[in-house]
Amino acid sequence: MKKLIFLCALLLLQTACKQEKPIVLADENKRGLIVENAMVVTAREEASKIGSAILEQGGNAFDAMVGTELALAVAYPYAGNLGGGGFMVYRNTIGAIGGLDYREKAPLASTKDMYLDENGDFIPNKSTLGAMAVGIPGTIAGVFAVHKKFGTLPIETILQPVIDLAKRGVVVTYKQEERIAKYQPAFLKANKDSIIFNKNWKANDTIKYPVLANTLERIMANGRDEFYKGETAERLVRFMKDNGGIMTIDDLSKYEAQWRTPVVFEYDDLRVISMSPPSSGGVCLAQIMKMIEPYDLSQYGHNATKTIQVITEAERRAYADRSFYLGDPDFVDIPGDKLISDSYLEGRMSNFSFEKATRSSDVSHGEVQIVESNETTHYSIIDQFGNAISVTTTLNGAYGSKLYCSDLGFFLNNEMDDFSSKPGVPNMFGLIGAEANSIAPEKRMLSSMTPTIVEKNGELLMSVGTPGGSTIITSVLQTILNVHEFNMTMQEAVNAPRFHHQWLPDLVMFEPNSFDRKVINSLQQLGYQTNEENSPVIGKVDGILVLKDGKLEGGADRRGDDTAIGF
Ligand code: DON
Repeated sequence: MKKLIFLCALLLLQTACKQEKPIVLADENKRGLIVENAMVVTAREEASKIGSAILEQGGNAFDAMVGTELALAVAYPYAGNLGGGGFMVYRNTIGAIGGLDYREKAPLASTKDMYLDENGDFIPNKSTLGAMAVGIPGTIAGVFAVHKKFGTLPIETILQPVIDLAKRGVVVTYKQEERIAKYQPAFLKANKDSIIFNKNWKANDTIKYPVLANTLERIMANGRDEFYKGETAERLVRFMKDNGGIMTIDDLSKYEAQWRTPVVFEYDDLRVISMSPPSSGGVCLAQIMKMIEPYDLSQYGHNATKTIQVITEAERRAYADRSFYLGDPDFVDIPGDKLISDSYLEGRMSNFSFEKATRSSDVSHGEVQIVESNETTHYSIIDQFGNAISVTTTLNGAYGSKLYCSDLGFFLNNEMDDFSSKPGVPNMFGLIGAEANSIAPEKRMLSSMTPTIVEKNGELLMSVGTPGGSTIITSVLQTILNVHEFNMTMQEAVNAPRFHHQWLPDLVMFEPNSFDRKVINSLQQLGYQTNEENSPVIGKVDGILVLKDGKLEGGADRRGDDTAIGF
């Protein structure tokens, strides 16, 4: 039955896709939108348009980030947010790189065992639904930090179009109609009063967000402190308290986004720049790519048995390390250089053989299950000056904790679930963790978000990233390999079917009905457990590729409403 519903949903999504997508290209399966100067690719056309218009007015990629991020909070409340957080990686016009961490933090009153009952057992839903699941939001601090350091346009020029969009409203897409309907029971459970999304919204309806517009107007007038110390902060804290949460004004006023040095590594003639802890994305991507570099994937073929074997085995080893070593670098020592060193990774792969699958229990131990796909959102921007940014932002689950502050007009995250609440107990992505990712006041929870920029021979090649929880890292990996090893266009690389392995559970997930049966059978014979039926959508990648002639090609994932806009 579940399978039937999933298939129907898939059909509906495809139909919706056909009706909604404007045909902009001669061959939209092969090539994405191609432009001369600048491009923004996001999960919603409205947000891409606002970002691109900021660039056309002479703003840079950082100005466009501020507008795009907040436009997603309006147009894509499923994951775009004021009540969440994220990561940004940049490479500027002279090749300087950096990263921004605006990840949520655990409240001051949080404790290591806050999601366990008196017997030490994990309390279901407490870290995912309602006020106790909420980490201190970082998004407003993040966008203002970016604007302060790199912005060129006045904040009013950037925010006014976003406020206008909130007032004018956003047209519901078919995919959005489905999502709103699906989460009705959870909205009712998490909220005391009815919320704007408790209506039977249908595709082509327009939802207006006047309360969110008011909040954004106050932020535009008073700056980032409005959210962390001002009237908005006070109203948010009152709301959280009313709903049984522990967030205080102290939590908000102490929050700061952090500039971080990205993880940088080489793969063939590529230089990959990705997010450092508290995201696991960069370290894991580096480990996987360096473990597979000695193997000739292009000779084995795209999604061929040997290619899938090598990638899966590297993923198995990297995710086992993720679980043990990674956490917030402000709280734990991470042996980052060692984990991505050639000698260490050679040793990690030394027991791999094409003859037989390694068992995850031989790499480490545990039995867990992956639950379902949830949402985050990624966008990529390259401007007319040559600055590139890659940003992934999230509420964690779909609509976060489902707790919606009607007084301010936004959802609150459920990022606390990304901590390891109890060693060996999986979070909603089936990821298990250890002491390095245990809960502590003001600590940031470990993430898989992998905003990434790639250079080739010293020149900018790509900005790429995706939502998808634990599947983020492996989706970014496959997109880069599709371009580099298998000569795909950006759009083909995004479209191509994906698979995923994360050490535990010991199975390889495949996007349904998209892999060669012979390949699946041969993998099974080699000892790989495969799963096609219940596999969620694996990633929803957005990226931009710099073509040989300097033009930009967008890759906007048709698994969503994603759209590239540029000029
Ligand atoms: O930070 C993380 O890794 C998760 N909170 C991301 C959640 C996510 O990607 C959900 N999307 N599908």
